Amino acid sequence: MKRIAVIGGTGMNQWPGLDIQSKQDVLTPYGPASAPLLHGQINGHPVCFLARHGEGHRLPPHKINYRANLWALRHAGMEQVIAIAAVGGIAEWFAPGEIALPRDVVDYTWGREHTYSDGSPGTEVHHAEFTFPYSPAMREALFAAAAAAEVIVSGAGIMGVTQGPRLESPAEIQRMRTDGCDMVGMTGMPEAALASELGLEYACIAVSVNWGAGIGTGGIHDEIAASIERGMLKVQGALARYLAMASIRA
Ligand code: HPA
Repeated sequence: MKRIAVIGGTGMNQWPGLDIQSKQDVLTPYGPASAPLLHGQINGHPVCFLARHGEGHRLPPHKINYRANLWALRHAGMEQVIAIAAVGGIAEWFAPGEIALPRDVVDYTWGREHTYSDGSPGTEVHHAEFTFPYSPAMREALFAAAAAAEVIVSGAGIMGVTQGPRLESPAEIQRMRTDGCDMVGMTGMPEAALASELGLEYACIAVSVNWGAGIGTGGIHDEIAASIERGMLKVQGALARYLAMASIRA
């Protein structure tokens, strides 16, 4: 069976139901990962969990050491990474409380350490292919797992990733819509690109927790409070089934 890791974000900084068997602090050339890797089981199926924002959710999106996180997972022998991301919905079909499996990404972030191919001595410049930011095979298996768990996935869509930590202005959301974005988050990049550079299979389950700025009628923080738990329960249902199905495939 492939070794599977889950990176949990806002709303899933911990994984209720994860039976933790060991904690691993990985020393990386890039500094510390956000948190120790938690090796454990969900319903008897092995999985490794990493809290993207650190214990106690102390790291804002632009301060997360994405290079250390992905390097630590690779070093620990992980082969697949499922990233969980709370996002704002831009497309009409992606209302708060719904989940999606993005198929592509637009990167609006800046100033983040975003590559391992950084020209440091002894490294070669490598132009990593990024034609499939999210593994088609993993997405297919995630769609199947969600269906088997009777969890509705609203669609696929394109993820736009902004710098944060502030939310966007309505004009910024309009621009993203024009660019083709269906959702907006703050942590999807450089995470996806770094996974690709390391040869990790990577997919994302996005949870809409609010409407992008200027779309909804209510306050964004009220929308988040009302929807985040519902969305994360769907994620956890789909993940549990994904792990069970992965162990059958193996
Ligand atoms: N914008 C950016 N990131 C987000 C949002 C949003 O509206 N909601 C959750 N993460």
